[in-house]
Amino acid sequence: MEKNISFSRSQAEYIENIAAIMRIRARGEKPLAMVHTYGCQQNVADGEKIKGLLSEMGFSFTEDVEEADLVLYNTCAIREHAEDRVFGNVGALKNVKRRHPSLLIALCGCMMEQEHVAERIRKSYPFVNLVFGTHVIHRFPELLHQALVDGKRVFSRGNEEEDAVIVEGLPVYRDGSTKAWVTVMYGCDNFCSYCVVPYVRGRERSREPEAILEEFKSLVDAGYKDITLLGQNVNSYGKGLKRPITFAGLLRMLDQVPGEYRIRFMTSHPKDASKELLDTMAEGKHICHHLHLPFQSGNDRVLKVMNRRYTREKYLELIRYAREKMPDISLTSDVIVGFPGETEEEFCDTLSLVEEVGFTSLFTFIFSPRKGTVAEKMDDPVTPEEKSARFKRLCDLQESIAAKRCSSMVGTLQRVLVEEKNSKTGLLTGRTEGNIVVDFEGSDQLIGSFATVEITTARNWILGGVLRED
Ligand code: SAH
Ligand code: SF4
Ligand code: F3S
Repeated sequence: MEKNISFSRSQAEYIENIAAIMRIRARGEKPLAMVHTYGCQQNVADGEKIKGLLSEMGFSFTEDVEEADLVLYNTCAIREHAEDRVFGNVGALKNVKRRHPSLLIALCGCMMEQEHVAERIRKSYPFVNLVFGTHVIHRFPELLHQALVDGKRVFSRGNEEEDAVIVEGLPVYRDGSTKAWVTVMYGCDNFCSYCVVPYVRGRERSREPEAILEEFKSLVDAGYKDITLLGQNVNSYGKGLKRPITFAGLLRMLDQVPGEYRIRFMTSHPKDASKELLDTMAEGKHICHHLHLPFQSGNDRVLKVMNRRYTREKYLELIRYAREKMPDISLTSDVIVGFPGETEEEFCDTLSLVEEVGFTSLFTFIFSPRKGTVAEKMDDPVTPEEKSARFKRLCDLQESIAAKRCSSMVGTLQRVLVEEKNSKTGLLTGRTEGNIVVDFEGSDQLIGSFATVEITTARNWILGGVLRED
């Protein structure tokens, strides 16, 4: 099978048929779908494609499950807590279906690529009509059609061929009007020992730069002002393409597109983050001085067992270089507490790294064993109570660092992309280049544009400011 395929017109027939069937079922009204996405931005981007397909099938969208003709949960498998939430919410649909027997229930996303999850749905949730994984999104119309017409339950996951494919040309229904997501690569080959993503998202594969450029240009033309390039490890973008290109090369190409907008990207893996990337960020016209660079642990032994393939020193060297080139850079990161066997001393190395770097914000997680991963089977003598205590120590430390960083911005001028008006406070709210929220007074007309704001207050990671003339 070819590596890149276009969204197949063979799906068009299913789309038309579903539209006709659903029109009848909704008695001439537009059918309504409730779509909820869990997990990371990659899943959000997939959710927008699924909504694009539903929109072509004639659906409008609702947040109210009681009026929905179809409920679809796009799920995440990253931690046990994420899975538990999905099972809880799916369980709650049983009563809704009792009240509305014609309700269609579909589950997709990362959890559904796992055999044991599909099996559990098959056995214990008989009211679910359709289950499909991340690799078959482009066949969603066909699968939904099968569920509708045959009235049978449909289960579908990718096969080896489909796992290696990139489908271009899927319709996208974008939720926002200022921020947009562009997936530049799919899958992950890193197999960090704790992580389920390589198992549910398949092997790493990059989109052709021309396809990305075309989508990017159309977003800038449509007025999107904050565009995030997505991949599990964007720094290995371009490997395996016919004409290889680095991620920095891709950034330079996109940065040439004329217009007033910002480019962000995530996630960067420290093992592949290069000086070329940091130089490109420093020199770019539109590239935000914001780097999300997950470090996971500050201790070399733990990093090794995590299979991260960099050391604390290599990480700190990257940070030093980034700060040298971009003194204003905003750094954010992910960190795991309580990895199997992590000692008190090793945890203290994580604390000291956090202190040394001074992140703007940190996503902190307690290790959660994932089925089929290497870390699932590791000895884990540290008690949950001890892990929670460490977690709290880390959060407290980061809170005080973030508060200091925010206070140090008081008195500075920031370019803020205005996103919306807060209905409670009546203030406009937007984000700085470093992705920090700023509230200030101003007219609704500023929504969707850039404004210059002088920062006057800082509390709990939210800045307050006053509008200034450019
Ligand atoms: N590809 C990204 C991360 C994607 S998952 C990267 O490599 O940086 C987002 C974050 O979830 C990870 O950075 C990690 O901190 C956390 N995570 C992943 N698996 C986890 C697990 N089993 N338990 C706890 N946290 C986990
Ligand atoms: Fe998971 Fe590691 Fe891949 Fe990130 S790089 S998605 S943490 S395996
Ligand atoms: Fe979750 Fe899948 Fe993202 S497991 S974090 S939704 S890639």
